[in-house]
Amino acid sequence: MDNVKKRMDELVAAINRNDRLYYVEARPVIADADYDRMFEELVSLEKDHPEFKDPNSPTLRVSGEPISGFAQVRHSPPMKSLDKCYRKEDLAQFDAMLRKEGLGGFRYVVEPKIDGVSMSLLYEDRRLVRAATRGNGEVGDDVTQNVRTIPSIPKTLPEDAPRELEVRGEVYMTRDGFVKLNAELDEEGKPTFMNPRNACAGSLKQLDPKVVARRPLDMVVYNAGGVGCDGFASHADMIKAFAGWGFPVAPWSRVCDGLDEAVAAIDELGGMRHAFRFEIDGAVMKINERRLYSGLGATAHSPRWARAYKYAPERAETVVEGITVQVGRTGVLTPVAELRPVELAGSVISRATLHNADQIAEQDIRVGDHVWLVKAGDVIPAIDGVIKEKRGPSVAPFAFPSLCPVCGGGTCRLEGEVATRCVNPACPAKLQRRLEHFASRNALDIKALGGRLSGILVEKGLVKDPLDLFTLDFGSLRSLDVGEEGSPRKFGKNAENMREALEAAKALPLDRWLFAVGIPNVGATVAKDIAAEHESFSALAGSPVLKNVVANDALKGRERRILKIKAEAAKAVLDFFGSPYGASFAARMAALGIDPKRADGGKVRTDGPLAGQGCVLTGTLSRPRGEYARLIGLAGGVVQSAVTSRTRYLIAGANTGAAKTSRAKELGTEVIDEARLLELLGEGAPSAEGPDRATGKEASLLQPELF
Ligand code: IVH
Repeated sequence: MDNVKKRMDELVAAINRNDRLYYVEARPVIADADYDRMFEELVSLEKDHPEFKDPNSPTLRVSGEPISGFAQVRHSPPMKSLDKCYRKEDLAQFDAMLRKEGLGGFRYVVEPKIDGVSMSLLYEDRRLVRAATRGNGEVGDDVTQNVRTIPSIPKTLPEDAPRELEVRGEVYMTRDGFVKLNAELDEEGKPTFMNPRNACAGSLKQLDPKVVARRPLDMVVYNAGGVGCDGFASHADMIKAFAGWGFPVAPWSRVCDGLDEAVAAIDELGGMRHAFRFEIDGAVMKINERRLYSGLGATAHSPRWARAYKYAPERAETVVEGITVQVGRTGVLTPVAELRPVELAGSVISRATLHNADQIAEQDIRVGDHVWLVKAGDVIPAIDGVIKEKRGPSVAPFAFPSLCPVCGGGTCRLEGEVATRCVNPACPAKLQRRLEHFASRNALDIKALGGRLSGILVEKGLVKDPLDLFTLDFGSLRSLDVGEEGSPRKFGKNAENMREALEAAKALPLDRWLFAVGIPNVGATVAKDIAAEHESFSALAGSPVLKNVVANDALKGRERRILKIKAEAAKAVLDFFGSPYGASFAARMAALGIDPKRADGGKVRTDGPLAGQGCVLTGTLSRPRGEYARLIGLAGGVVQSAVTSRTRYLIAGANTGAAKTSRAKELGTEVIDEARLLELLGEGAPSAEGPDRATGKEASLLQPELF
């Protein structure tokens, strides 16, 4: 038992150390696969020995019980705000005021003003015990559970940090992450966030930390809290110490001698304001010498030792020359403003998404209007308002199409949804998007099938459903012209690559397939949660687990785990399999001999002969790939569709190309044959029989008759 506890402590320490190297210092020293393995080992030990579980365990980053509402936290001292100004003269006035107070010989620090959510972090005994939002400055929300999911925030502090410490800073959503999140929400027909700050605040308000864990949040610590921060002569020293204790701090700051240098630093920062992974809306100019703070004091609103300088928001005027409507994979109609090209914050912009019909109506955007263009989250072009004075007399309100602009089919708008959808299952636009999704990296990862080929296959009528890919005539596909207008190019050798990738895809686990199908509300993570509760693809049709989730949203006990599955996602999957299309899709899968299996039963097999090892199957094998995939999964291995640096074994059947094996060797992957695989799996000679002794009782889960 002592050993178990010791091992768990070791793992916690190692994971925390590596989190810090990865997220804070950006210099990981171990392979992702090794990190994942440690993480998974800790998860399984914690499950078996909850009594030893560290309340600050890094595994809380990805799980944790949903919290019901937030407790209130009183801030001591209060979390004040900053006095803002918009002109350099105001900074000069601030400087003059300080000098009038008789202060001299001090320096300034200039830092980015991060546009996020202010947060206090409290450590007791060098462990994170509480995270609270600013709230009204006096009282904020206790969001500890959610903040614990942010990887870069240290959960424990090193020995040289004060035992009791409170630090303050800004939690933000990365700009890239914001773009991705909005794209996902758009695709699901859900309302999007206005900017990264709203997305960040919205994420922190989530009651389920699991949802928060999936949001790309991070933090910058920039201020002292009520305890443990005395004794630093300067702000710069304090920030250096914070960084030394593992806190993420601003990646840019300047210590400046006097006003002129500070203004120059503010201009320098202004010139690079779009280069950060967080959105900044200004600069903060602070006195560096902390001993001067108490003498200067504060107003009710803000301290008198700092000023925020806000940069003018960048916007550009342009004209809406047209509004086109695109059709997405799930049939969602997305209106896009076609703009007179205009330069804004470093790029020329000619299009901006309008998200949905409501948004157009609310902003009353019409073709021909002059509009203000901004970049939401510094990246996504967005219309920030119509310049109504410039509206011409003949400019008419935009009529959102009532029919699908691609196929002319009917549309509908479900209650509670902002999206209008094309309901024609055969709509070519939907089909093309579905093919692209089917082939995408988190789905079946068919690289040869990019947007261009998907379009051609649909246009030529060669593919009417994603499953048609499996019965394509790859021989004739070689001569397919995939070139641009006027410059023909044969698909050629790619046909063979595509056939191989599809063959490999048959062996991918259930979650990848479920995601690939493209059911509304079933993203990659939801698909994983659902797959963890099901043996196989065929088991999803009419699944009692899903029915339970739909029927009863408030189950207790064991079923609570199932509640990771959202009722709306469960219903969408049941609806899919219950629909005539879903039923025929499932029947076709069976006819093709494809029945993807759960990757690993949700459990990590640390004892299997292939525990944690990446395996790729290639060439002609004597048994169906699905069967091998299942066996490898049961042995703790992970089947991958292509060799990467994380692949341990390339299982090369007959006719494996030399290029493939030499590439594998380059990456340190062992190339083995089928007989060796069976040896590793604990089997004897190849046979067409199903369950085997190596896999023990779980072998009964095998359904060889399906292959
Ligand atoms: S120092 C007493 N430094 O801006 C408050 N604040 O508009 C001292 N902010 O509430 C705060 N970046 O949430 C400081 N580098 C930075 C900041 C920063 C963003 C936020 C902070 C404050 C708000 C005021």
